[in-house]
Amino acid sequence: MPRQRPSTRLRSEPIRQASGRPGDQSTRRGDDEETGRPEDQDLAENQTRSPSPPLSVAGQSSASAAAKLILCGEHAVVYGRPAIALPLASIRARADVIDGPSGSGIAVHARDLRRRWLVANDPHGPISQLISSVLRYLQAQDTATSDLRITISSTIPIASGMGSGAAVATAIVRALAAHLGRQLSPEEISTLVYASEQRFHGTPSGIDNTVIAYEQPIWFQRAGDGGWAVGESLNDPALPTPLPPTIKPIVIASPLDLLIADTGVRSATRQPVGEVRRRWQAEPAHYEALFNQVGAIVTQARDVLEHGDIATLGPLLSQNHTLLQRIGVSSPELDALVVAALAAGALGAKLSGAGWGGVMLALVAPDRHVRVAAALEQAGAKRVSKTAVNLFRPAPSAL
Ligand code: PMV
Repeated sequence: MPRQRPSTRLRSEPIRQASGRPGDQSTRRGDDEETGRPEDQDLAENQTRSPSPPLSVAGQSSASAAAKLILCGEHAVVYGRPAIALPLASIRARADVIDGPSGSGIAVHARDLRRRWLVANDPHGPISQLISSVLRYLQAQDTATSDLRITISSTIPIASGMGSGAAVATAIVRALAAHLGRQLSPEEISTLVYASEQRFHGTPSGIDNTVIAYEQPIWFQRAGDGGWAVGESLNDPALPTPLPPTIKPIVIASPLDLLIADTGVRSATRQPVGEVRRRWQAEPAHYEALFNQVGAIVTQARDVLEHGDIATLGPLLSQNHTLLQRIGVSSPELDALVVAALAAGALGAKLSGAGWGGVMLALVAPDRHVRVAAALEQAGAKRVSKTAVNLFRPAPSAL
């Protein structure tokens, strides 16, 4: 008899939709249940399989990628402290690739941005650069791949801390690889997307591309103090290569429910990340001490998740928010949502992602969902959704 193992299920369902679109179920081909992916494998064991296998039929290929949520540790993770991130399997970006007419070039249609362009006319745009670098990596810059139509769509709010850019990039990489009959490991996908993230916001930690490529809850820590190795990136000599990070699956011993509330304020990651860097350069000892406190919270959060002690997780998340305020990346809108969630009975609450806008998360007991969601909306949330983080226990050898 096969051993029954607990599995991870992260399902996000809109509670209220003051703005934005509900999840696009059509992009969910390849979700865990449909693929039978063994979810409790070590990341290393799972490297030859994509968590969301792309489809490729008669000149048409499509693939999707999940949104993500940073549970704790953002910003400090850029400076070598650990962070914990979760994939949001039901909120996805999708890419479709079809063969274009001969001589048409590589045409991109970003539906949500209402933008169409030819890669040849926009060689320095981040998505064009990603496409070129993926084709270069796949060594496919020949006549067979010079005429493509790539359509991108996403239900992930842009610039909101949910990994929209990394998810779009991951879907493109997966769809292109499928179109060329290649299977890339999550590690290869993550590396290609990391280069794209570097072009977008300079010094990304790598947590977004990693959690999205592996599509499972992770503990992520850059090597050393977050330093860089001198060397060439996988496929772009202009980009520095980071030292390999520590990536481990996170045990989740007891299910937890999170509410995700969107301030509706769009904030490009590079701005708060750049501001934190300036502040850290001006006062390194002060910021190093704050990052150490964040790191200690993340370590405690991992232990609490492993022991299923959800009530203890709440205060840790709220403490993380206080530290993010002191680091300088919260905003009046985010603070108002955190205060409202806690006043309505959330076990803990914090901003999630780069800050200055975007989303916050609240840990809630099942009997408080409706009350906390109503309080969040009352306090200005443009959209509130619920995510159930279910059990996850990797193979014993994994940790
Ligand atoms: O806002 P997002 O989803 O791009 O998350 C950024 C997370 C940071 O820790 C602030 C930056 C990083 O690269 O890790």
